[in-house]
Amino acid sequence: MSIAATTTDRTAGESMVELHNVVKEFKVGGNTVRAVDDVSLDIRRGEIFAIIGYSGAGKSTLVRLINGLETVSEGTLTVDGFQISGQSESGLRKARTNIGMIFQQFNLMNSRTVAANVEFPLKIAGWDKAKRRARVQEMLEFVGLGDKAKNYPDQLSGGQKQRVGIARALATSPSLLLADESTSALDPETTSEVLELLKKVNEDLGITVVVITHEMDVVSTIADRVAVMEKGKVVEMGNVYDVFSNPQTAVAKRFVATTVKQAPTDHEAAELKQRHRGYLVNIEITEGNTGIGKVLSYLGNRGVQFNIVQGGLETLQGQSYGNLTLELLGEVTSVDAAIAELGTVTRVKEVR
Ligand SMILES: Nc1ncnc2c1ncn2[C@@H]1O[C@H](COP(=O)(O)OP(=O)(O)O)[C@@H](O)[C@H]1O
Ligand SMILES: [Mg+2]
Repeated sequence: MSIAATTTDRTAGESMVELHNVVKEFKVGGNTVRAVDDVSLDIRRGEIFAIIGYSGAGKSTLVRLINGLETVSEGTLTVDGFQISGQSESGLRKARTNIGMIFQQFNLMNSRTVAANVEFPLKIAGWDKAKRRARVQEMLEFVGLGDKAKNYPDQLSGGQKQRVGIARALATSPSLLLADESTSALDPETTSEVLELLKKVNEDLGITVVVITHEMDVVSTIADRVAVMEKGKVVEMGNVYDVFSNPQTAVAKRFVATTVKQAPTDHEAAELKQRHRGYLVNIEITEGNTGIGKVLSYLGNRGVQFNIVQGGLETLQGQSYGNLTLELLGEVTSVDAAIAELGTVTRVKEVR
């Protein structure tokens, strides 16, 4: 197929989106709202980058700055080497042809056919009719809707509507696709399908994808790197595994807790103590320090019996992380020795 974007020949690791100390303030009545507060980001060409945060964190504002729908109050912003901040309206219009966008509510024109929706940006860009037609069909086939060209959006499921949104967003071969809560209106199964399609967009077409979400599952399913936003600031950033196997901030910890059971709370600890007479410890499992089998073999080698009484494990980017609460049973000296040995390979916390 010839629909590959212009990005495939570019060097990996180069910047696609660069933000330096970007601030966005809104004046509301007599007050100033700082929606984006001193954000610096470097989104690389060819990656899938996620921005996660709760409602009001500033994610959508950040996206609107990236595609030039809002202007920065301070700082600089470039997309694909093109300066967005301080750009004229005509310059922005040109920049936007290189940026595709999909939305939570799909934003399709319901009075137009699926084909006409996908064709729309091509008309704006001045493509002639024959080229438009071929491109529309090519894009619909790419998203798996080759037979829906003559249907109307109302005749489609939510997942199919988002596929149309993706076909429309990519019609003019942008280098960058921005997806703002693009699966938030979909059920879990349809969400997986759309995320698979975004992966295909990234892998087959070489398009850089920025996924904005409040759902941890979305990040763990498709992203390479992630920025965690809170109150307008990026509070953590890095490889998805690194950030979520070892979250530093309360907000990142809350997201992790939505997918993997955390170390016992005080209430849970009290309850566990009542049910288990052994020594209770919680150990962290990360690929970096120790595999789970290795941890458990330490105990066996020390003649310590154990029960797993609580915990959770998840896999991210092919690596496991999580934590286990163990009840250790055996001679006090053996248990102490086992705990000391565990402490050399992972973080061990007494549960009390
Ligand atoms: N056009 C606007 N005028 C005033 N305040 C705004 C505007 N857009 C966003 N905000 C405020 O900026 C903050 C961040 O909003 P938003 O970027 O939509 O967050 P998110 O997408 O993470 O939910 C919120 O406090 C919101 O009320
Ligand atoms: Mg938003």
